[in-house]
Amino acid sequence: MESALTARDRVGVQDFVLLENHTSEAAFMENLRKRFKENLIYTYIGSVLVSVNPYKDLEIYTKNHMERYRGVNFYEVSPHIYAVSDNSYRSMRTERKDQCILISGESGAGKTEASKKILQYYAVTCPASDQVETVKDRLLQSNPVLEAFGNAKTLRNDNSSRFGKYMDIQFDFKGAPVGGHILNYLLEKSRVVHQNHGERNFHIFYQLIEGAEEDLLRRLGLERNPQQYQYLVKGNCPKVSSINDRSDWKVVRKALSVVGFNEDEVEELLNIIASVLHLGNIQYGGEDSGNAYITTDTQIKYLARLLGVDGLVLKEALTHKKIIAKGEELKSPLNLEQAASARDALSKAVYGRTFTWLVNKINVSLAYRDETYKNASVIGLLDIYGFEVFQHNSFEQFCINYCNEKLQQLFIELTLKSEQDEYEAEGITWEPVQYFNNKIICDLVEEKFKGIISILDEECLRPGDASDITFLEKLENTVGGHAHLTTHKLADGKTRKVMGREEFRLLHYAGEVNYNVNGVCVRSNQLCFISSFAVVSLSLSGRFDEVLIRHQVKYLGLMENLRVRRAGFAYRRHYETFLQRYKSLCPETWPSWQGKLADGVSTLVKHLGYKPEEYKLGRSKIFIRFPKTLFATEDALETRKHSLGERERERVTSRAVVVQAWWRGILACRRAQRRREAANTIRRFIKGFIYRHNERCPENEYFLDYVRYSFLMKLRRNLPKTVLDKSWPTPPTALIEASEQLRKLYMQNMVWSYCKRINPESSPTSPIQLFSKLCFEIFKNKKDNYPQSVPKLFVGTRLNGEEINPKVLQSLGSEKMKYAVPVTKYDRKGYKARPRQLLLTSNSAVIVEEAKLKQRIDYAALKGISVSSLSDGVFVLHVPTEDKKQKGDVVLQSDHIIETLTKVAICADKVNSININQGSITFTMGQGKEGIIDFTSGSELLVAKAKNGHLSVTAPRLNSR
Ligand SMILES: Nc1ncnc2c1ncn2[C@@H]1O[C@H](COP(=O)(O)OP(=O)(O)OP(=O)(O)O)[C@@H](O)[C@H]1O
Ligand SMILES: [Mg+2]
Repeated sequence: MESALTARDRVGVQDFVLLENHTSEAAFMENLRKRFKENLIYTYIGSVLVSVNPYKDLEIYTKNHMERYRGVNFYEVSPHIYAVSDNSYRSMRTERKDQCILISGESGAGKTEASKKILQYYAVTCPASDQVETVKDRLLQSNPVLEAFGNAKTLRNDNSSRFGKYMDIQFDFKGAPVGGHILNYLLEKSRVVHQNHGERNFHIFYQLIEGAEEDLLRRLGLERNPQQYQYLVKGNCPKVSSINDRSDWKVVRKALSVVGFNEDEVEELLNIIASVLHLGNIQYGGEDSGNAYITTDTQIKYLARLLGVDGLVLKEALTHKKIIAKGEELKSPLNLEQAASARDALSKAVYGRTFTWLVNKINVSLAYRDETYKNASVIGLLDIYGFEVFQHNSFEQFCINYCNEKLQQLFIELTLKSEQDEYEAEGITWEPVQYFNNKIICDLVEEKFKGIISILDEECLRPGDASDITFLEKLENTVGGHAHLTTHKLADGKTRKVMGREEFRLLHYAGEVNYNVNGVCVRSNQLCFISSFAVVSLSLSGRFDEVLIRHQVKYLGLMENLRVRRAGFAYRRHYETFLQRYKSLCPETWPSWQGKLADGVSTLVKHLGYKPEEYKLGRSKIFIRFPKTLFATEDALETRKHSLGERERERVTSRAVVVQAWWRGILACRRAQRRREAANTIRRFIKGFIYRHNERCPENEYFLDYVRYSFLMKLRRNLPKTVLDKSWPTPPTALIEASEQLRKLYMQNMVWSYCKRINPESSPTSPIQLFSKLCFEIFKNKKDNYPQSVPKLFVGTRLNGEEINPKVLQSLGSEKMKYAVPVTKYDRKGYKARPRQLLLTSNSAVIVEEAKLKQRIDYAALKGISVSSLSDGVFVLHVPTEDKKQKGDVVLQSDHIIETLTKVAICADKVNSININQGSITFTMGQGKEGIIDFTSGSELLVAKAKNGHLSVTAPRLNSR
């Protein structure tokens, strides 16, 4: 609230108690108008919330809004229905006292909407559990049901509640809603049979006709046309643009099942609703003065079925009355007018009882059942018409206005009492308040024996001919002299002109009202009393219609409320809140007050020059009598904020200068330090350069290290990119040797990487590498042509499939060929050279001539392999002599001797059977004979039969040897 004090010129005050001229209705209206213009529809009078119906969606009822008001102090936020809801809830929780929120105002003011907002607030903000969710749903869903059966379109409100409603919401000890109870009263039953022009019957009739499924309508004997029903045509207004009966029907059907109606119960309920429509269509025949008879038998048929009664009995009941004379029951026929009236009375009674049954049924579903909830706390919501005056005021209006009179009395008493309590608690002397006490009017109505109600009771119970007129006479005789009552007979000439003969006039707190006594004796059973409430909320209607609102302000007694509330002090706050807000206005309390809060506030107000009559200091609060004192303080605070702002700026500026100077000093020191270090480095550098050719010594070590470092860094940036790039940075003297080592290493590495890139087989784990390793182990330093063979690439095979005759391949069958090479075979006799192919399969070595398979040596039969240590390619495969299939050892020559023999060794698993011989090799020629091969070195390779009969092999000498 304080936050809005500064904007009060534009948005008015949030609490009417802060109105300077609180007795002026004009000032009151002006404040309302200012706020309404800014879409601020809520204003307080103390704990009363005044609301002006905006007739548009203001988006102030979102979940965020609910959160904003949850658990917040009343005064910290702008007035709102949620603030009232929250305040009642918290009072209930903390004080463990039942609360009541009374919502009053004229028709269309927004009472029912306000009560729904309160329910929604509790549904959203209160603690929940599964069971609680069901109760919340039922509480919320009871509204559409009650509105369907109890609300109707009137000239003032398209959804006017035509019954009074008091709803209890019960909360458990955790603050969760666990149950509810609804009390209905004063249902406007006359609406069932008659509506004024432009008004409608209760919504449910139209919803049923528009929304019900064809089947259901057929069962109920209804047509989908409201014009067909006498009870729906009186107002000539079956359709309303703001109402969608069809979709509302769906909502109501759903709500009925949420609040616990099963299908049968719904059907029964609708039977009765339909029967009212059928009753309305009953027509009579007969003379005006003669006996009435029913002309519409179809209706009777439907009614008998829907109500479950005998058609004939019903017919008779609608055309006859029972008279008990001298203990005897007599039936006498009714005339036309009487019969129509009996029909309507039955319709009203049926509808009225159905409504009560409906409310009871909802109450059963809302009732809390759990024993542990016995001690539930309650918040009551009373949605009641406000004080109203019409051209003709009936007995119902008398009841409503009396309720409002009574509420006004309770309300003033409670306001006074809470004020008194607060003064007492704060130790402030209570000064009596002058206000209009309406006790005199309440007594006039309710006093035992002398009050209007007592007189009415007495008159109704009295034997003999009691009538409305005798009641009026009794009134005149008993309370005729009362200052607040007059009748046509007792009134002066001027008043008499505006009063009917059957009227009495009451001077209410809100104004004069003439009540008609017609039917008063019949209806007197319906009075209701309200016993307790704590927070009160009022609503006003209007699109800021000045006349209407002024009227409501008067009839709701708002000015009187304000007067009472303002009788003492307009404003009060806890010391802490007050001091916190205004402490900057006094040098002693600014920036903080160390002593007692009360002393701080006292010092502050003295400094501000408050006069003794303007304020009082209580135990924990300061009380300020006039709003103008508060506003002057508020204005001073505004000015102070500006100057504080200026001073604050100056203070910040001077602090900034200090910080800047300090920082600049640090920067300068750092710069000087860096310069010193730079000079030292240069000095060391020059010295080092001078001593650069000396042995390492303290004078040159920095320089030399730097030179090395910079060479290595330069090298890193300028390394050759390819094997062909021979560039290399020139090293300093001290690094010549290291540079050369590095260059070699780097080159080797580059070559290796290059080879690896172009020949993936050079990987050490590749089969080729493993093969090379085996060659190395077998032949290194043992056979002269080994080194020569190394740079040559070993290959998988020397002959591919196309180079071998297909017949050979065919005869090898499934035997897998692993290696093939062209060889020269030397005949065992004569040593004639013959071109052959040597094929190594998985099982044997095969010697092939063109398409012929000349010899097959199973690996198992291969005894050994002999070869010379020289550079020739001759080798011998030894086979067992006893093997008849073999003709003797085989002498062969291969151009790839190292490769060929290694392959043989691998395939035949004979690595250890290779014999490398010096000089000569002896081999078997078959039939026990032996041959000899002699090896000698010469200039070129020569293989020929020597004169001694041996095979002579001259191997060329190689350079590496
Ligand atoms: N807070 C609000 N914001 C916007 N529109 C509102 C608000 N309150 C009420 N209205 C509008 O005013 C209409 C009438 O309100 P509501 O039915 O609550 O009046 P009432 O006081 O209960 O009247 P009655 O005494 O006839 O039942 C609502 O249908 C709605 O259109
Ligand atoms: Mg209403």
